[in-house]
Amino acid sequence: DRTIKIAPSILSADFANFGQEIQAIEAQGADWVHVDVMDGHFVPNLTFGPPAVKAFRPHVKTVMDVHLMITPVDPYIQAYADAGADILTAHVEAGPHTHRTLQAIRGAGMKAGVALNPGTPAEAVEHLMDLTDLVCVMTVNPGFGGQKFIDMTGKVKKLRQMIGDRPVHIEIDGGVDPKTAPLVAAAGADVLVAGSAVFKGGSVSTPQIYGDNIRAV
Ligand code: DX5
Ligand code: ZN
Repeated sequence: DRTIKIAPSILSADFANFGQEIQAIEAQGADWVHVDVMDGHFVPNLTFGPPAVKAFRPHVKTVMDVHLMITPVDPYIQAYADAGADILTAHVEAGPHTHRTLQAIRGAGMKAGVALNPGTPAEAVEHLMDLTDLVCVMTVNPGFGGQKFIDMTGKVKKLRQMIGDRPVHIEIDGGVDPKTAPLVAAAGADVLVAGSAVFKGGSVSTPQIYGDNIRAV
C-alpha cells in the first residue's frame, strides 16, 4: 500500500501569479510542489534560479521539490538550500560525480534526488541508492511542459527492485495525466509530477483534473 503523492509542476502555472497558483494547487490537495529549474544549457529552456525559488518558499506549506535541470550542479547546492528547498534533485547525466553531488545535497540538509533522462538506464543509479531519497524517472525529454508521455514502466519496475526495502521514492515526471498515471503507479511509482494536466488552460481555477482523476489510481 503505497500512497500516491501528487506534485504539480508550477512550470505550467501563471508566471505572474506564483503565490496564488501555489495556494490554489495546495487547496486542491497537492502533496508536494514541484519546481523545475532549467539553465538553457543542460536543457534548451530557461526558468528560474535561487532568488525565485526563495520567493516561492513562504507560499509552499507542503514540500518544495526542486528539480534541477542544470549543469554543473555542485556550485549551486548551497544556494538552493538557502532558498528553502526540501528535496533537491540532480540529473545523473549532469556530470561525472553524481555520488559526490548527492552527498553534498544531504550535507546541506536537504533530501537528495537523482533524475534519469528517458535514454538513461536504471543501472546508472544502482550504486547510488544508499545516498538517494528519490529517483525521478523522466517520461519526457526534459525542457518543456506539455510533451507526450514516453513509456518507462520497465525502468520503473527495475528501479523498484533495486530499491528493495529502502525508503526511496520513485517520482515520474512528464506527460502524467489521468490516462498515464495508472500505468506508472502500477509499475511502482509513488510520486507523480503533473504540469499541464493540473494547470490546463493556464488558469488558477482549473486544477480539477488533478484531484478527481489522477489520485484515484
Ligand atoms: C519537464 C519538467 C516537468 C514538466 C512536466 O522538463 O521536468 O516537470 O513541468 O510537465 P507536463 O506534466 O506538462 O509534462
Ligand atoms: Zn520536473
